[in-house]
Amino acid sequence: MQAIAVHPGKKNSVHLREIEKPNVSDIADGKGVLVRTLKVGVDATDKEIIEAYYGDAPEGDDFLVIGHECFGVVEEVGENVTAFQKGDFVTATVRRPGTSIFDVIGTNDMTSDDKYYERGICNLHGFLTEYFVEDEAYTVRVPNGIAHLHCLMEPMSVVAKAIWQMDEVQRRLRVWKPKVAFVMGAGQIGLLAALFLRLRGCEVYVIARTPGPNIKTEICDGYGAKYVSTNETSVEDLIAEVGRPDVVIEATGSSMMAFKSLEYVGKNGCVVWTSLTVVDEMLEIPADKINQEWVLGNKVLVGSVNGNRGHFEFGIEYLSLGEATYPGVTEKILTTPVKGFEKYEELVRLLVEDKSALKVYLDIADG
Ligand code: BGC
Ligand code: ZN
Repeated sequence: MQAIAVHPGKKNSVHLREIEKPNVSDIADGKGVLVRTLKVGVDATDKEIIEAYYGDAPEGDDFLVIGHECFGVVEEVGENVTAFQKGDFVTATVRRPGTSIFDVIGTNDMTSDDKYYERGICNLHGFLTEYFVEDEAYTVRVPNGIAHLHCLMEPMSVVAKAIWQMDEVQRRLRVWKPKVAFVMGAGQIGLLAALFLRLRGCEVYVIARTPGPNIKTEICDGYGAKYVSTNETSVEDLIAEVGRPDVVIEATGSSMMAFKSLEYVGKNGCVVWTSLTVVDEMLEIPADKINQEWVLGNKVLVGSVNGNRGHFEFGIEYLSLGEATYPGVTEKILTTPVKGFEKYEELVRLLVEDKSALKVYLDIADG
């Protein structure tokens, strides 16, 4: 069967290759779920893998099948699988457990191992293939009613983890209820974070560079969030108008904005960093001012990566609630389909070059 792969560490080595079709019996104890892949999204992490900043091949292979945002339909299940049947729509989690205590208790998104295992990213092959097989434990059901949002399950799990972290951390305050939320960045993570926070009843400001109107402003309008272009309004002016935010979700991919967020957040506030930045940027920051405000204001910064099974389920609940509350808005994130494995070069080109694309994905087959 066909797969899209790279040679990790080698720039622009994306290629199409034939690999063996997996079997439901590849997974131990009759727990295998064989999935026919329907859609797979690509994101900044794939771009970094393609540009050789990131990514590792599984032991014994010199290639890595990429793709970690999957959606498919169950084709066959092992004899001990109880949660899934042929025909169910599913997605799968990305990271597999290692050896740390955090992995052992089922929170492998929190691993403290130096070497970790993520399908399509490091040490495990990904989902940009015609079929994949997965353990029932890492397979997650997608309700038929949100099947049209297919490859957004994984990005939403990343947002759900970030919100979960915020909730966990802010429980320290007993009565904290965020009113004003800033989302830095209007990519897929920023927009999905805006949805989540709107569903929580926050006044949401999505802060990005490009002035509207564009697809991002349209989506923000649909969610009842306010889009603020920093080309038109400075964040300082926004704060003068609406006050300091209780929460900042940072998803720009710019370390400058990540550190700027520390200057914006209000008292008792929480900043969640979700961006991964790969260049070695040096910055000058008002360190004393930040230090003073952060101590006197009891503020918290939390870094958040990946999502475990619980976060996938939490994200899927909110995507479902999102469809019920703002029907037809979230699918606008799915801007850029590419049809068929043969078009893999087009997939890469759009991912790298099309700055207006919110979500580039391979459209393999209809459900
Ligand atoms: C993925 C996460 C992963 C992270 C770091 C992100 O693009 O969505 O699942 O943990 O990259 O590799
Ligand atoms: Zn990702």
